[in-house]
Amino acid sequence: MARKIIKSKYFVEEDFVEVLAEVPAGGSSPLPTNQEMKVIGRPVTRLDGYDKVSGTARYTFDINLPHLAHARTLRSPYAHARITAIDAREAAKMPGVLGIIHYQNVDQIPWYGSSFLFDPHLRYVGDEVACVAAETEAAASAALKRIKVEYEELPFVVDAAAAMKQNAPAIHEGGNIQGGKPAVYARGDFDAGLAEADVVVEETFTTQVEVHNPTEVHCSVVNWEGDRLTVWDSTQAIFSVRDTVAQSLGLPASQVRVIKRYMGGGFGSKLTTGKYTVMAALLAQRIGRPVRITLDREEMNLAVGNRPDSVQKLTVAAKKDGTLSAMSHWSYGAVGAYPSGAACSWPLRTIYQCPNVKTEEYSVFINAGPGRPFRAPGHVQGTFALESILDDVAEKLAMDPLEFRRKNHATIDQVMNLPYTSKKLLEAYDAGAKAIGWDRRRKVPGADKGRYQRGLGFASQIWWGAGTPPAGCILKLNRDGSVRLIAGTQDIGTGTYTVMAQVAAEILEIPIERIQVNLGDTAVGPYCPLSGGSLTTPSVTPAVADAALQMKEKLLSAAAAILEVPQGELVYQRGEVRHTGDTSKKKTIVEILREMREQTLLTYGARNANPEGYAINSFGAQFAEVEVDTLTGHVKVIKVVAAHDIGRAVNRLTLENQFHGGILQGIGFALMEERVIDPQTGKVLTVNLHDYKMPTIMDMPEIEVIIVSEADTKISNVGAKGVGEPAMIPTPGAIANAIYNAIGVRLHSLPMTPDKILMALAQKG
Ligand code: MOS
Repeated sequence: MARKIIKSKYFVEEDFVEVLAEVPAGGSSPLPTNQEMKVIGRPVTRLDGYDKVSGTARYTFDINLPHLAHARTLRSPYAHARITAIDAREAAKMPGVLGIIHYQNVDQIPWYGSSFLFDPHLRYVGDEVACVAAETEAAASAALKRIKVEYEELPFVVDAAAAMKQNAPAIHEGGNIQGGKPAVYARGDFDAGLAEADVVVEETFTTQVEVHNPTEVHCSVVNWEGDRLTVWDSTQAIFSVRDTVAQSLGLPASQVRVIKRYMGGGFGSKLTTGKYTVMAALLAQRIGRPVRITLDREEMNLAVGNRPDSVQKLTVAAKKDGTLSAMSHWSYGAVGAYPSGAACSWPLRTIYQCPNVKTEEYSVFINAGPGRPFRAPGHVQGTFALESILDDVAEKLAMDPLEFRRKNHATIDQVMNLPYTSKKLLEAYDAGAKAIGWDRRRKVPGADKGRYQRGLGFASQIWWGAGTPPAGCILKLNRDGSVRLIAGTQDIGTGTYTVMAQVAAEILEIPIERIQVNLGDTAVGPYCPLSGGSLTTPSVTPAVADAALQMKEKLLSAAAAILEVPQGELVYQRGEVRHTGDTSKKKTIVEILREMREQTLLTYGARNANPEGYAINSFGAQFAEVEVDTLTGHVKVIKVVAAHDIGRAVNRLTLENQFHGGILQGIGFALMEERVIDPQTGKVLTVNLHDYKMPTIMDMPEIEVIIVSEADTKISNVGAKGVGEPAMIPTPGAIANAIYNAIGVRLHSLPMTPDKILMALAQKG
C-alpha cells in the first residue's frame, strides 16, 4: 500500500511534539460501528490474564541469567551538597563485591542536558553518588556503607515559595525558576471582562506532591554480548530507553536492544530512562557479567519522579445570566531538582467558553526528587482548583453547578481556535447526572445535622489522547492460518496485547485465540510511540487495522490467482475467500497458504496522520457521592459515575479497568497521598507505604462507567481516544465539590485529610 512521509504534531503529557511519520497515503476509512462488530467493543478478557494471575508472566525482575550480578546505588544523604572526596577502596574489598562506579572513575555522561550521570553536585536527598555490583543484593548493600564520601554541605531549599526568593540557594545556574521566566498565556482583555462581571470570586488552592508508586518497582537487567547490549527494562518507552542508553554509552542504536514484556504500572514515572539503567550497563561492561538493578520502595519514593505540587490563585468573573466574562490563573509549583513541568492551567484555558483569559505559571527548582509527568500532568491539580471555584461562582449566581457548566459550554478549542473532531460533553452531563441521581443533590450545602453527612459533586475533564503516527504493526500469517502481530509498542498493564488482537480478529474474522502478539522489543517491532499521554490504543490499533485490511487484500489476490478468476468477483468472509457467483469456488486461509508453499504472508500497517485543522480531545464528567464523618473527619467516597466521550470503546473490560484504577488514584490524591519533606533536614519523611498513604481496595467506591461516544471517524479507522488519564482528571474536583455539598465548607487544600475536614468544620462553628 502506498505510503508517504509527513510532518505531524501531537500533544504528549506536557508538550506539543513534532514528528516525521510514515503514514498510509490514502488516509484511512472508518471501520463499521461497534453494533456491527463481533470482537471490537466487546468485553474480551485479557489475553495475558492467565499468565499474570498464575505467575507465568515474566516481569523484568524475573529475568535471570547465568552469572547474574546485582547492583545497588549509594544516594546523597544531603539535600544539597558537593562531593569533595570519594574513596571506595575499602568497599571494593568487601566479600562478593565485583565493581564500583562513581564520578571519579567513569566518563562524565551528560544527563538530560542539565547535569551528569554521576554529578559531584548533589541536589536532593537521593541523588546518585555511586553504584556497586556484587554477587548478591545484600553484598552490594553492605558495600555501600563502606564507601567513604566527603561532602561539603550547601544551603538548601525544599519549598517552592522560598526557592523563588531572590537570596534562595541556587540549584542550577540561572536561578530556581525553570527557564528563567513564567509561562504566560492571554486572550481577550481580562480587565475588561472583570469590569463587566456581576460576580467575581478569587480563591487560592494548593495541591501536594504525589508519588507514582506503581506496584512494580523500577528495574533493569542488562547483558552484554561483545559490544551489543540487551536491556530488559520496566519502561513505558522502549525506544526512548534504547536511544538514551545508546547515546550515553556511545553505541549505535542497532547495538542496543530493549525488551519489556509485562509491567506493573508506571503512571509516568517510567517514561524517561533511569540513571540506574545506564549505571547497570556500565557496571556490566566493567565486570563482564550481566547485572540486575532493582530500586527499593524508598528509592521509588525519593528518586524516580512525582507530581509537582501547586499553589494556584484563580479569579473567575461571571455575569448574572451565568456567562463567564473573565478568568485568570496564577500558579507556581516545585518540579524538584531537575527540569520537569508544574504548569496546570490548561483546563481553565480551554474547557469552558470564556473570551478573556490570562495565565502565568512558574515551574520552580527545589532540593527534592525530580518531578515527572504523572497521569494527566497538570490537569488533575488544575481541574481540582477550576472545578472548585466554579462551584463557588455558581452558588453566588444561585445556579445549579451543572447548569452553570452547560451555560458555558465551549464548541471550539479557544487556545488554538480550532473545531473539535468530536465533543460530547453535554451528553456526558446528561448521562452522568441521571446515573448519580443529580436531583438528590442537597440544595443547601451542609444543611444536614447528623454525624454522617452526604453530598454530591461533579467535575468535567478535557484531555488529549488523540493518538499519533508514527505507529507500525507487522502482521504475519502462518501456514496454519494463525496470526502473529509484532509492534514496538508496550503494554504497561492497560490491555494493549488484547485490544490489538481484537482488531486483527475482527477484520480477519478469525478466533482471537489464533492470534499471538509480540510487543516491547526494539529489535523486532516497528517503531511506536511511548505509552503515556493516553495515546497507546488510539495510536496502535489503527496500524493493526491497516495491516489486517492489507492482509485481506493479499488473500483475495492470492485466491484470484489460484482460482483463475478476477479478484473483483471474490469476497472475503469468515476466514475464507468465496466467489460471488459460483459457490463451489472458495479457498480457506489455510488452503491459500498451502498453495503458496513456504512463503510467509506479511503486511506492515501504519497509523494514519491526524486530520488537519482540528483539535482532538476527550471529554467527560465525573459525579461523586461522599459521606463525611463529622466526628472523625473521615471521608468515604460512596459512588463515582464516570461519563465520558472517548471515541470508540475498543474493549469494555480493559476500559473499565482504566476507570477503576484512575478513580482510585484520584481518591488517593484527593484524600490521602502526600509526600512530606522535613524542612529542617531536607529529608523525605514518607519513604514507605506505611507513611505514604495510598488508597487500597477498601477505599474503592461503587463505580459506574458510561461511554457516550461512538468511533470518532475523523481521527482514524478505529476512532478511539485514550482513557488512561481522563479516568483520573475530574475525580479530586468531583470529590471536593461533593464534600462542600455535604458539609457546607470549602476545602482549598489537597489532600482533604481528616484534620483539615475537622478544622474546616470547627471554623464553620
Ligand atoms: Mo503518562 S503521565 O505516563 O500518561
